[in-house]
Amino acid sequence: MSNKTDTKRSNFSGKLGYVLAVAGSAVGLGNIWRFPYLAAKYGGGMFLLVYLILMLTFGYAMIVSETALGRRTGRGPIGAFRAFGNKLRYKFGGWINAIIPMLILPYYCTLGGWVIKYLVEYCKGSTAAMAEDTYFTGFIGSAAQTEIYFLIFAVATVAVVIFGVQKGVERVSKIMMPALIVLAVIVAIYSMSLPGAFEGVKYFLVPNFKNFSIMTVVAALGQMFYSLSIAMGILYTYGSYLKRDVDIEKTTTQIEIFDTSIAILAGLMIIPAVFAFSGGNPDALNAGPSLMFVTIPKVFESMGFGTAAGIVFFLLVFFAALTSSISLAETTVSTFQDELGWGRVKSTIATTVILVGLGTVTTLGFNALDFIKILGMGALDFFDFVTNSVMMPISALCTCLLIVYSAGLKTVGDEVKLSSKFKREKLYNFFMKYLAPICMIIILLSSVANVFGWIKM
Ligand code: PHE
Repeated sequence: MSNKTDTKRSNFSGKLGYVLAVAGSAVGLGNIWRFPYLAAKYGGGMFLLVYLILMLTFGYAMIVSETALGRRTGRGPIGAFRAFGNKLRYKFGGWINAIIPMLILPYYCTLGGWVIKYLVEYCKGSTAAMAEDTYFTGFIGSAAQTEIYFLIFAVATVAVVIFGVQKGVERVSKIMMPALIVLAVIVAIYSMSLPGAFEGVKYFLVPNFKNFSIMTVVAALGQMFYSLSIAMGILYTYGSYLKRDVDIEKTTTQIEIFDTSIAILAGLMIIPAVFAFSGGNPDALNAGPSLMFVTIPKVFESMGFGTAAGIVFFLLVFFAALTSSISLAETTVSTFQDELGWGRVKSTIATTVILVGLGTVTTLGFNALDFIKILGMGALDFFDFVTNSVMMPISALCTCLLIVYSAGLKTVGDEVKLSSKFKREKLYNFFMKYLAPICMIIILLSSVANVFGWIKM
């Protein structure tokens, strides 16, 4: 296990560069699009509570683990697993981490394309038209439109990746994140002040045990992985770029606070507005992936300065999504570079081919290819489900097993303590050894059982 990587691998310029890059990866459509619709669907305040608990325990342990192992070994997920042995199980653990981003990136770009479309339409001043109920369905029904916007987003992602880690990733994230918070606060306050919105605030913030089901936990766990960019190799890769003097414990806390605040703000922008515009009809909460694209335009339309708000909002969401998709693409490229020995150009081309191929299937899954159903799901829901509810629990479990049985908890502890007191070490150890594996297995089984209809949740 060596760390003679500084000449070969890029490095973050320091703590701020790392935090911003990880925050750039973490904050994205997961926070703004996915979190509010899952919270609306799976129990409001109950979902929020479960999410917060998981994030502070599990999320914390996973971020620390992946970053520390990445820095320790100086490798992405596959190399990091291999550093501890050559058996099949290490290969499996590494590759499952590495494959997840390859499967998320395509559908992420489908969604990114939708964001660009909304940005363009706000620039054209279609504010009133977009607030219509049928606007969104009309748009995603068009194969040509959705595919073009998907391609624009995909090309933007690949273009940034070609510039390399430091320049590409850091520069973009530095400017946009604070602006996103400011705008989200303004819109959330407005949204909460709409008539009828208070019920929504209550639904989102106050846990009601009536709304609890095992699916609340499954969804919250998947969302936590997704939103924090964990259980998919990304933080191994970023950790491998990280200098030794950066305090992993502190940066982890900062990233969690940042990521969760934006998710909660997005919830406060969207869920109260759903109540306000539906007259409190609970069915509106089940809107699923379309929730943000249907609700937010209504908020902007009612605002008075909605066109300007729409332009700024979708521009910032675009950048948040772009920094996330860059990190997905970057991880994939570095997997090809490290594992197959390909050059950067060839690796980028291979990534683009996978991206455009699977992404097109996902994008057209709403129109030209909408007859394709896997396990009863359309392509986007299917990729989202397989990665979040099946593969990520497995890959998180692999990381736990790797640390507990092969690397040793002490290896992670020592690595973290190079630059931090590691105050939560006991908690961390307990979590990795007992709680995490048990949770993972229960969650994995129940999410699979749910899909096959063996249990009703
Ligand atoms: N965490 C990102 C978000 O919340 C999405 C993402 C997932 C990014 C996986 C990288 C890896 O949108």
